[in-house]
Amino acid sequence: MSNLQRLQARIAKEGFPTVLLSDPTNVGWATGFTGSFGYAVIGVDKAIFITDSRYAIQAREQVKGYDVHTFAAPMTGAKFLGQVMAENGVTEVGFESETVTVSTLQGWEAAVPNVKFRPLAGIVGPVRQIKTAEEQDKLRKACKIADATYEHMRKVIRAGVTEYDLLLELEFFIRRQHAPLAFDAIVVSGPNSARPHGKSTDRVLVDGDFLTMDFGADYQGYKSDITRTVVIGKATDRHKEIYNQVLKSQLASIEMMKPGVKGRDVDARCREILDEKGLAKYFGHSLGHGLGIAVHDGGALGPSSEIVLEEGQVWTVEPGVYIEGYGGVRIENDVVVTSTGVEIFDTSTKELLEF
Ligand code: GLY
Ligand code: MN
Repeated sequence: MSNLQRLQARIAKEGFPTVLLSDPTNVGWATGFTGSFGYAVIGVDKAIFITDSRYAIQAREQVKGYDVHTFAAPMTGAKFLGQVMAENGVTEVGFESETVTVSTLQGWEAAVPNVKFRPLAGIVGPVRQIKTAEEQDKLRKACKIADATYEHMRKVIRAGVTEYDLLLELEFFIRRQHAPLAFDAIVVSGPNSARPHGKSTDRVLVDGDFLTMDFGADYQGYKSDITRTVVIGKATDRHKEIYNQVLKSQLASIEMMKPGVKGRDVDARCREILDEKGLAKYFGHSLGHGLGIAVHDGGALGPSSEIVLEEGQVWTVEPGVYIEGYGGVRIENDVVVTSTGVEIFDTSTKELLEF
């Protein structure tokens, strides 16, 4: 089933009116279009795609299963939307209330007075969260590029280089695979590694540092997001104690993941293990997030997560310990929920490596 058909099944099941997608990521998910502006108007037996003249050729190539309509200046997007909806007998649409701004809505309402715009939350999210076999395969490939990147980095990590040099090396390697970066990579060392989302600096790596690298590649629109932490020089007992406890907590959380398990319980398990060594107080973020065409693809495995695991969901599992003035450790896998547990997409070693 295509993503369009999956969405139409949801519209039928929920009794939604015709829906109007305008969020570029959701539009891309539903239509395959990769440009920056497009509207998808979708009903149980209706699929219309609208974009402007900049993307007319691209839309005809990329958007399958939709009636494609394009417009050019002096026509405006809002007026054209109204015209196409009128031609197709649409009198009410549900729009994406999470992302449509007040001024966009006011523009639509002014240009299209005969259509009722109804705010709807979660039109696409619950379907998008479950990845098809084809989507899983793209995520697997995005993870393969990330694995190759880590293997490459192991050849260049050493005391004496800067965080920024390593960041460039990492970014160049990913780009050399003809893959965009999934997000701005994080390469942080020593005390800077205590910042979960720190920026790379000109700091020179020295023996005794933790070095954390958090990065991913984009394969045909699908993202990987992995993290590995290593030690520069010989690992001390303190390095080993922190690292091994983070790894133990991660493995315990992954071990319990399967359909029916609550996201908050997966998160709690990891904190319970970290607390065996008094380390849970150094772990301030959620254990994981959904992954797909966005790096944060909806939903979280966190202390207040209401989510229940389902087959086909893809999650990051990324516990961390961040000690200000000393450093931090994070280990992150990307996993898909299967009928009996999870498959881990990225296969790079999680042993504590020394350089
Ligand atoms: N890798 C960045 C993040 O998970 O937010
Ligand atoms: Mn992540």
